[in-house]
Amino acid sequence: MLQGKKILIGISGSIAAYKSILLVRLLIKAGAEVKVVMTPSAREFVSPLVLSTLSKNNVVLGLAEADEWANHVMLGRWADLMIMAPLSCNTLAKMAHGLCDNILLAVYLSATCPVVAVPAMDEDMWHHPATRQNITQIAAYGNHIIAVGKGELASGLFGEGRMAEPEDIITYITEHFFRTEELKGKKVLVTAGPTHEAIDPVRFIGNHSSGKMGFALAEELYLRGASVVLVTGPSHLQTAYQGITIQSVVSAQDMYDACLDRFPDCDLAIMSAAVADYRPESVADQKIKKQNDHWSLNLVKTKDILKQLGALKKPHQFLAGFALETQDERANAQGKMQSKNADIIVLNSLNDHNAGFGVDSNTVTLFHKSGAEEYLSNRPKKQVASAIVSFIIKHWYAQ
Ligand code: CTP
Repeated sequence: MLQGKKILIGISGSIAAYKSILLVRLLIKAGAEVKVVMTPSAREFVSPLVLSTLSKNNVVLGLAEADEWANHVMLGRWADLMIMAPLSCNTLAKMAHGLCDNILLAVYLSATCPVVAVPAMDEDMWHHPATRQNITQIAAYGNHIIAVGKGELASGLFGEGRMAEPEDIITYITEHFFRTEELKGKKVLVTAGPTHEAIDPVRFIGNHSSGKMGFALAEELYLRGASVVLVTGPSHLQTAYQGITIQSVVSAQDMYDACLDRFPDCDLAIMSAAVADYRPESVADQKIKKQNDHWSLNLVKTKDILKQLGALKKPHQFLAGFALETQDERANAQGKMQSKNADIIVLNSLNDHNAGFGVDSNTVTLFHKSGAEEYLSNRPKKQVASAIVSFIIKHWYAQ
């Protein structure tokens, strides 16, 4: 999402300036073009050399460099987004009052792009009425503000005032400024994770699914503009994107109910959860005590969610499923696509030890009902998600 985006980082004097080094690195890794402007006091906290090396651009330090004028107006117009991180109490006050006594403030005042302020200061300064008023004032000017965090502060005290973490800043700017509109207006349902089928109050039947593939798909769809509901079985994962609606469920029946409830309102559904195929016929009220050497459980089939959605699917709806196969992979995957009336099926390759449950990467083959197929060699699940979404868009809009 950040590929080719022009981001200007404004650093003012604060201990938190060390976090800007990581912020620059993450932005460059995400494909952004980065330039850095620093106030004179910021140089006491981090070296311009580190920032120029990481950003691959000279750091702008003053209104004039040697005998050349630093064109703050063009710099402010060059950027797609300006991030003031860290924003010190002093620079905040100057922004609130329109002061222009250094290069950073000159660039800020001439910036035509959105500006995101990421404050950092000690708790007492953060809570001072003057700071509160300055924050309200710069928000009224149209600046975006990423709230401070709570934790250990430079003073050694514990409280509010910590600069947001670089990863959270990236999430914020991606969500607020760089979502595309490819899927704007589309409502999407995604399932993720395992299901837990209760045996008694303390035991269940489950599987090793982590939910990573489903979460990656939900985030990719959201960043392409869709409105996303993620129905997830028990998983330790969370999404950083506040716009994604999460519905947590436990059993296959819960997931079935949630999906049937949501599907009529959706344009696209992707069933990537590893749903249990069987559940105990009855759930004991009390913990089952150990007795004989052998114990058998009576299991009954769960309802097949993908199949049911396939039966209910309307012509405008697009349905995607997954297949996990250990033999006759292609034939079985294509058979599932047909029998469950899915438009595409994603075949997980279990023969690759870097793919599947729990790991961060996956190797898959995508099949469309038209006969089109695409093999995706092993790659991070986020990239797999992106390729799956592109495959869906290509075939959905062509049908
Ligand atoms: N699925 C589902 N509801 C179930 C079982 C599976 O919606 N009760 C969905 C999965 O989310 C996946 C697809 O069906 O999208 C295929 O799941 P998979 O486990 O590969 O196959 P099954 O249909 O369960 O068949 P089998 O276990 O015999 O291979």
